[in-house]
Amino acid sequence: MSGQKYVIALDQGTTSSRAVLVDRGGHVVDCVQRPFQQIFPQPGWVEHNPQEILFSQLGCLTELLARHGLGAEDIDSIGIDNQRETTVVWDPTTGAPVCNAIVWQCRRTAELAERVCGAPGVRQMVRAKTGLLPDAYFSASKIAWILKNVPRARERAEAGELLFGTVDTWLVWVLTGGLVHATDPTNASRTMLYDIHRGCWDQELLDLFGVPASMMPEVRPSSGFFGETSYPGVPAGIPITGVAGDQQAALFGQCCFGAGQAKNTYGTGCFMLLHTGHEACESSHNLVTTVVASAPGTRGTEYALEGSVFVAGALVQWLRDELGIISSAAETEYLAKSVPDTGGVYIVPAFTGLGAPWWRPDARGSILGLTRGTGRAHLARAALEALAYQIRDLADAMAADAGAPLDVLNVDGGASANGFLMQFQADLLGCELRRPANLETTSLGAAYLAGLATGFWSGTDELRGLRASDNIFRRQMDEAQAETLLAGWHDAVRRTLG
Ligand code: G3P
Repeated sequence: MSGQKYVIALDQGTTSSRAVLVDRGGHVVDCVQRPFQQIFPQPGWVEHNPQEILFSQLGCLTELLARHGLGAEDIDSIGIDNQRETTVVWDPTTGAPVCNAIVWQCRRTAELAERVCGAPGVRQMVRAKTGLLPDAYFSASKIAWILKNVPRARERAEAGELLFGTVDTWLVWVLTGGLVHATDPTNASRTMLYDIHRGCWDQELLDLFGVPASMMPEVRPSSGFFGETSYPGVPAGIPITGVAGDQQAALFGQCCFGAGQAKNTYGTGCFMLLHTGHEACESSHNLVTTVVASAPGTRGTEYALEGSVFVAGALVQWLRDELGIISSAAETEYLAKSVPDTGGVYIVPAFTGLGAPWWRPDARGSILGLTRGTGRAHLARAALEALAYQIRDLADAMAADAGAPLDVLNVDGGASANGFLMQFQADLLGCELRRPANLETTSLGAAYLAGLATGFWSGTDELRGLRASDNIFRRQMDEAQAETLLAGWHDAVRRTLG
């Protein structure tokens, strides 16, 4: 027992930073959230200011501590989870980043990634070592871009004067007063420079992208000691003992600790991960193989298959902000239930291409089946159904790759609060959908990783016991009807892809 101590999760996401206070019972006691600026210097480019990320994150932390009158002695540990792949390069002597962070969504290096990995042999080598589909999404081409385009960056990097990090690494480095330059395997596995089988940076990949090995952080277990806080304004001496990419943190927070367990997060996009245990399952359906966060003492690396849907909640935002046919995202539930079906309308939300299993970055969105009778309720329903169809496609791809269908899908993220969407998703999937009472699974995952490392929690069995009762959704629709609707979706996708 650790008495009245808490663990703090620092949840550094794409659009906001959050600090979340978690007690020993696994309850979220409080949360402070601060958005920060999204920078779009050119069409398709996305940047963040690393200092703004830092100050928004530290602001949340200090406000949370002040609100509850907490000091270092009240905090068992800090766990960090973060937007993955986003790339920061900085000078450790001044602490100054050499340019803005290049965000995972940024497409500026699409050509560069294609040029470097275009040859079939190279593509295959990258895929075999990293488990990834060579793409500008991952960090490697973003580092290469910085070294090529920021004045003197290459020269300084080769002289050992610059460091690279994903956002976790940047935060750990600053929070520890510049003492610790480290990341964890979940973040490392998203750089496209990390051999997920050997568990180390790969020289052939570093050479391919021209990245000096001296820039790379040390890779430490996700649940274990990284360092102690040592930064002005932050109570000194709090151990940082958990680090993971946000999607892997959510998998952990959902208590998906073993093979066959899966989660889907319904956010701006969707990220679905299926734990495959110690087997690094290779996908034949455009999914990626990624490293998951493991509990301390786990022997060997554990993996997941991951698929992403680029546009999910963003489609609902588009209905609200661009079309103006709803005033809030929550309104879609009532609207969708107000009509018996979409009247044959399908929305294919390929605003930024289609992800797995289609993998067509060039595709663009469409709305099919409009009639004179189509109203906003039909469009709202078609939008929610489009999210569910995309997840069904991912689930089918995962089942085919893993050789077994899903029994249960754990869900979280903002749109999982939508009852219509969850029921339609269960109707389409045919498996059980479990929505935890506490939807803060990402932060919980980061907190769990930190608290397991210090003994705040005894092990994964205790964590499973902390999970409050779930909302369960099961198929209510006739299976044949679900398959007919799905066939209509596939027809709409084929017509969209041309
Ligand atoms: O791979 C990108 C992902 O980690 C971003 O997650 O929740 O910050 O949009 P989120």
